Formats: sequence, structure tokens, C-alpha cells
Amino acid sequence: MTEPPGPPQPGPPPGSPPGGRWPDIRATYDAVAADYAAAFAAELAGKPADRELLDEFAAALGAGAAVWDVGCGAAGHVTRYLADRGLRAVGVDLSPASVAEASRRQPGLRFGAADMRALPAADGALAGIVALYSVIHLPREQIPLALAEFRRVLAPGGGLLIAMHGGSGEIESADWFGRPVTVRASLVSLTELVSMTEQAGFGITRALARPPYPAEHQTERLYVWGQAGG
Ligand SMILES: C[S@@+](CC[C@H](N)C(=O)[O-])C[C@H]1O[C@@H](n2cnc3c(N)ncnc32)[C@H](O)[C@@H]1O
Repeated sequence: MTEPPGPPQPGPPPGSPPGGRWPDIRATYDAVAADYAAAFAAELAGKPADRELLDEFAAALGAGAAVWDVGCGAAGHVTRYLADRGLRAVGVDLSPASVAEASRRQPGLRFGAADMRALPAADGALAGIVALYSVIHLPREQIPLALAEFRRVLAPGGGLLIAMHGGSGEIESADWFGRPVTVRASLVSLTELVSMTEQAGFGITRALARPPYPAEHQTERLYVWGQAGG
């Protein structure tokens, strides 16, 4: 098992490319951590397709497998779901306030602050990575950086499960949970996501799209399950 994630990396806010046009995603999630957790903590109960996929992914990795839930969010509910299926699940997130909220809500599980583009894990240290709706917050041209980092920390044969919103371009809001914060997400097609995942050194175990559930933001939902090449 690799070391638990450490403190937030120093430096400029990740997600801010030269020129600084991309919003400070860390600050956004720090501001809404409690709201986000309250809104999404129970969401898996209404998402049977996601539960089924997570169940299959967990079963394929096997009990005791070391998995990081990257961009776990303030609820830590996916980390808990994975742990409840026998995985040694750790949650990591860019937002320290989200990490604190997830730690409070999920006693007995480990959470730490980290940027998905520079994970505090040794090469090949993990059996699995789950990244549900977190890669979305990178500028599109940075998504391959995150995928390459996932490949680096996964052992050959390790599993990667990513979820993103389908579409093209970006979606953005300057108001979230009634707070004056900017949240932005990159949209991709399933073909693009598969292609980027393959280019990062993964074979594709599963690639699927589903329409949104009524309670979800009304975007197509994309899921790619990759296997790290040897
Ligand atoms: C939409 S939430 C998803 C949370 C959780 N995975 C879920 O499915 O409910 C996106 C999360 O990704 C995190 N995030 C965004 N950019 C990140 C980065 N570069 N590294 C790690 N986490 C990041 C955010 O702080 C936020 O908690």
C-alpha cells in the first residue's frame, strides 16, 4: 500500500493555466464543500447503473485491492461505497475543505488533499483508480496529463474507472448553491474519452453512455473503464 496522500501541494491553484483564465476550482469546492456534501451524499441510491458499474469494478479488482477515489468530493460517498465492497479505498481531492468534510462524514476512512495531475503515490502503487466527475474540471488539453498520471500510479493490469459529462466545449456557472463561485467543466464525447484513455496506455474494458437520471444535471453520462497496459 502506498503512503496516504499528504498535504496540499504548494504553488498556484491547480486548474489555472498560464494566463489564469480557468477558474480556481479548488477555491470553488472549498466554498461549497458543506453544500455539495449535503446535496450528493445519498445520490448513489438513485443511480442503479452507477452502482452496478462500481460493483463490477470492485469485484474485478478483488477484496483488499488498494484504490484511490480521485476527486472524491466532500461527501466521500463513493469512497465509502468502494470500501463497503471490500476495497482498501482512500479518497483524494484538490479541495482541502472537501477532504475535511469527507473525513468528518466517513469515519474510519482515509482522505487527503492532492491534485490528480501530481498524485502522491509511487509508480505502480495502486490496483485501481476511480475518478467520477472530477477530470471534468480540467481544461480539455490537461485531461491527458491526468490520465498519464493515473497510468503512472497504477500497477500493470490495474483498473481505471472515469465518469464525465458528454458533449463538446465547456459548461460554466458563476453561481453555485447560491454562492458567488465559478464552476466550469469540460465536455467530451465518448469517442474522445476512449481515445485519450487509450493514448495514455490503457486498454478499454468498458465504454458506455447513458442518459441522465431526472435528478441529475441534464447531460449525457459517459463512463470508461480502462486497464493499465503492461
Ligand atoms: C463534481 S465533484 C465529484 C465528486 C465525486 N467524485 C462524486 O462523484 O460525487 C468534483 C470533485 O473533483 C475535485 N477536483 C477537481 N479538480 C481536481 C484535481 N485537479 N485534482 C483532484 N481533485 C479535483 C473537486 O474538488 C471536487 O471535489
